[in-house]
Amino acid sequence: MARRKKIYEGKAKTLYEGPEPGTIVQYFKDDATAFNAQKKDVIEGKGVLNNLLSEYFMLGLNNIGVPTHFLRRLNMREQLVRSCEIIPLEVIVRNFAAGSMASRLGIEEGTQLPRPIVEYCYKDDKLGDPLVTEEHIAAFGWASQQDMDDILSLALRVNDFLSGVMYGVGIKLIDFKIEIGRVYEGDYQRLVVADEISPDSCRLWDLETGQKLDKDVFRRDLGSLTDAYTEVARRLGVLPKGTAPAKPTLIN
Ligand code: TMP
Repeated sequence: MARRKKIYEGKAKTLYEGPEPGTIVQYFKDDATAFNAQKKDVIEGKGVLNNLLSEYFMLGLNNIGVPTHFLRRLNMREQLVRSCEIIPLEVIVRNFAAGSMASRLGIEEGTQLPRPIVEYCYKDDKLGDPLVTEEHIAAFGWASQQDMDDILSLALRVNDFLSGVMYGVGIKLIDFKIEIGRVYEGDYQRLVVADEISPDSCRLWDLETGQKLDKDVFRRDLGSLTDAYTEVARRLGVLPKGTAPAKPTLIN
């Protein structure tokens, strides 16, 4: 098989040049990291689960008219996406206090927020992805005012979609992070949801028991991460009902 060109290797994914111009292959690794890669492990099956779950969410968004970079899943670990210029921001939407917001503001985890709160972090691992305001974003030219209006609207649409989908399977969407890409079409550019949407980038709690079904299981050593992700995939119908944890079977 011809060797393909690696474009970028991140903590959880590797990007390769795609088969057609303007496309990229996203390969989902089994690597898990937390606290800016101070905690690391390889969790067999995580990449497969995130590939399937991200496909499920991105396809759903495409189908309701929220543009994403997703084109199609290629196999168990890879998906074809549109190549885009990633805006160097982590866009976080929170419905309930948790994680860094809970500790920063001294709010008990799980407290419902008066309305969804959107936060921005500057994507820079060396700095630990610091929280920034729209003032920083405008002053340093990371995104224009028009971009920020579009990003806010995309983030809130993704929040409504994901909250509803998760609620339908008995899961509360506490918060999530997305990344936004710029796609150029002739003289125009538009913004699309990029990167991935998976339990690595969301907080998902069982509606009844409060059990955590996301990467906090790894961050906080709460048990098997693949069991948690398999449960999410199984509830969404992404995996057949009786699928054993850790060795997910692919359904087409
Ligand atoms: P935080 O509470 O740790 O700031 O995380 C907020 C949300 O962002 C949570 O759903 C987890 C997600 N997240 C990422 O996707 N990548 C990251 O590097 C971090 C720190 C959080």
